Amino acid sequence: MTPATGHAVEACQLPDDILRQILELLNRRFGFLFRDSFREMARARLARRMAELGLDNLQDYYYRLLYDEQSEAEIEALFETLANNETYFFREPSQIWTFAREILQERRKARPGARVRVWSAGCATGEETYSLAMAVLETDPSLEGAVEIFGSDQSRKALEKARRGIYGRFSFRSMPDGYQERYFQEAEAGRMQVVPRVRRMVQFGRCNLMGPAGDLPLVKFDAIFCRNVLIYFHQEARRQVINLFHDRLNEGGYLLLGHSESLLDLSDRFEFASLNNDVAYRREER
Ligand SMILES: C[S@@+](CC[C@H](N)C(=O)[O-])C[C@H]1O[C@@H](n2cnc3c(N)ncnc32)[C@H](O)[C@@H]1O
Repeated sequence: MTPATGHAVEACQLPDDILRQILELLNRRFGFLFRDSFREMARARLARRMAELGLDNLQDYYYRLLYDEQSEAEIEALFETLANNETYFFREPSQIWTFAREILQERRKARPGARVRVWSAGCATGEETYSLAMAVLETDPSLEGAVEIFGSDQSRKALEKARRGIYGRFSFRSMPDGYQERYFQEAEAGRMQVVPRVRRMVQFGRCNLMGPAGDLPLVKFDAIFCRNVLIYFHQEARRQVINLFHDRLNEGGYLLLGHSESLLDLSDRFEFASLNNDVAYRREER
């Protein structure tokens, strides 16, 4: 457990029953699954959040989440405190290349003249979204205007960073050689900004994957990337999100999950597609 020394409340003193109710609230709103390790991390961060607010009683904090006029804002603040936004450019790159070299070409043939739309769901600070754009330009620069790339996340802070497109060293740890020179320009002190050409290919929007249907993208996509997001979700939430993705994919469109994630026990509405660069799930054509 993270020591909470100096905080208004010791994390280990937060009563289990109220803690459980708060975690259940987050579980319903955002799909979070609280495994034991995550629960302890949540306990420590909750204590820190209460300290920021000058509260020392978890019951009072719970009432704030439920009844206060600021409750929506506080639930969002808690999401920000608990969500893991870690990401970097060209993470699990074979999937990025599967999109740029295979899926993109196939979908252009399937829907001639239509722009190919790809959704990076749970894009965090945007590295995955921009990686897709760079991979398209590397594969065929003439396709710049033929692809629309949409990145979404629930985290306002992460999206702010995604929109600015300015990154530090940590984001570049898996970047192919030469890309930094081609697709980035110097920004503030040692940080690099994505060039306008790449930024023009992507758009960002905020959405909770567990939110009401009206908050989610209404258009259909040719490919959906949702990587390293559902590992934090409980089974029922995963099922709900996978059904959402099925609805939002064009027939023959592809779903790409993280390498440690699968549709096992979640859905039999997709077919397994073994492509040259990687594997994916495909919405069947009728
Ligand atoms: C670990 S990052 C994954 C980033 C990227 N897809 C990758 O693989 O590198 C997980 C992201 O999922 C987002 N997330 C978690 N629950 C969410 C929800 N219910 N709706 C939308 N985004 C959510 C978090 O804010 C976080 O930015």
